[in-house]
Amino acid sequence: MNLKNEVLQELKKFDLTYNLSDFENLFVLSVDAKNGDVCLPCFMLAKQFKTAPNIIAQNLCDEIAKQVSKNGLIEKVEAVNGYLNIFANKEMVAKKIVTEILTEKQNFGKFDLYKGKTVVLDYSSVNLAKYMHIGHLKTTIIGLVMKNICKQVGYKTISINYVGDYGTPFGKMITAYKHWGNKEDVEKRGVDAVQDLYVKFNQVAETDESLNDEARLWFKKIEEGDKEAVELSNWIIELCRGEVERLCNELGAKFDSWRGERYYSDKMQPVIDELKAAGLTKVSEGATVVDLEEYGLGVALIQKSDGTSLYLTRDLAAVEDRYKNYKFDKAIYVTDIAQKLHFKQLFKIVELLKKPYAGKLEHLAYGRYSLPTGKIASRMGKQALLKDLLEAGINKSKEIMKERGTKVSDANLVSKQVAVGAISFEALKYEKVKDTVYDMEASLNFDGETSPYMQYTYARCCSIIEKANTNINLKEVDFKNITSAEGFDLIKLLNKFPQTILDAYEKQEPCLIVRLLMDIASEFNKFYTNNRIIDNGVVNIKYLSVVNAVKIIFENGFKIVNIPAISKM
Ligand code: ARG
Repeated sequence: MNLKNEVLQELKKFDLTYNLSDFENLFVLSVDAKNGDVCLPCFMLAKQFKTAPNIIAQNLCDEIAKQVSKNGLIEKVEAVNGYLNIFANKEMVAKKIVTEILTEKQNFGKFDLYKGKTVVLDYSSVNLAKYMHIGHLKTTIIGLVMKNICKQVGYKTISINYVGDYGTPFGKMITAYKHWGNKEDVEKRGVDAVQDLYVKFNQVAETDESLNDEARLWFKKIEEGDKEAVELSNWIIELCRGEVERLCNELGAKFDSWRGERYYSDKMQPVIDELKAAGLTKVSEGATVVDLEEYGLGVALIQKSDGTSLYLTRDLAAVEDRYKNYKFDKAIYVTDIAQKLHFKQLFKIVELLKKPYAGKLEHLAYGRYSLPTGKIASRMGKQALLKDLLEAGINKSKEIMKERGTKVSDANLVSKQVAVGAISFEALKYEKVKDTVYDMEASLNFDGETSPYMQYTYARCCSIIEKANTNINLKEVDFKNITSAEGFDLIKLLNKFPQTILDAYEKQEPCLIVRLLMDIASEFNKFYTNNRIIDNGVVNIKYLSVVNAVKIIFENGFKIVNIPAISKM
């Protein structure tokens, strides 16, 4: 229910000297339950009414108090330090919210606001030459969760993994393979063998410059369509791509398209021609550029003097292609904040070209990850690899479950679900721009603000429901005299779920959902300690209905934030 609006509508029925419609946007949901459910800070009204805020609050309070009726939504009002605090009828509110959740079930928190609209999300999009490492977690998880959020508000979504399958790294890999590689080893060890070669290349190239020349030559051959170069690079790229796809699958990230940069490498000319025809290009030291200085965006390089194409140019070709294929209403690119300028340039050029998709492109930029031990060093092979992280997570959660004596039917599956939840939660728990430190040990803790703690709370709900083994007839559920500790505060938190989805969508902040779920988990555990849901074999239906509502919110919420719901752990 929209608590604030309903309280406001009810208030408007009262006969008051003030016209509430003039300042209804000042009403807010109370943050603290001791201030009621909705409150009106009267400070902004002082000037208008030439009266002190506390007097306005008091006047309103006196007028309303006289008219409060027994069966109305408003139960009590108080004037405190310039605030008008409104207390809703707990019984009515609780009943309404729980009924809504239990009837709407998986649709609670779903909207069709953007029905018929399409959003394209470009995320993960890793460079294939490197193993996926911890630095790729945020783009993959935040992107995936943003996709879920967009779905939740009604969009049709298209997920694209715009893999970096183009460029000199592949020239380097071929060079390394030619020097030190052998076919059987690569066939046997696959991507690991390729990675070893790449690491070796970087080590040796530090002292031997000629290797880089060789790599450039191989890359040029790839571009020119030389048979051997193309075959070798295709072979290597497919191996790397397969591994990335496997890891994405493990994390739950599935893509509608894997069309990467290479696809556009020979489709640059039309882009360059179009820019030229629009009079946007200049030649500077042999290179083609678009001067964006007047917008404070520097000079964008479109084509290098040796004719090779660039990241920006490929992105221009890619966005055109995507618009042709999907006619999107919105496109979101999820990357590290370091690419901010790149996307600003891209969006500005699209605008200058007056493309139909100008104004529809958004960059969701997030802060960097680091390990407790320091920066992620990706080039030299000392990075925290995603595959290792996942494996360590699985082992660690197995260990913890053993320690705790947790009995599950499929320990492998559950520990993987715990690991995926922990990894997702880590990537989502702070506002996206924050630089964060990834502490795996801490993330797998079953106590404190962690994903296992939430999953465990969900499992607790499931086991209570199973034990109670009772059907709930909503008409019979009665919340008479319900108190904060008896579930009222918890129910109000549950009611925040739909608005939180909308906020998370608007602000592109998945952390809002994760935080709400965490608040619900801790409030639920308080509720659970304070009340006997099943007392001596007798089920309290009122409490049980709350447990059911919590379970539904966890299920709906977990699905969005990529935390597996585990019914037994
Ligand atoms: N492959 C790039 C990188 O790892 C990210 C690509 C993001 N998407 C895009 N359309 N530019 O830095």
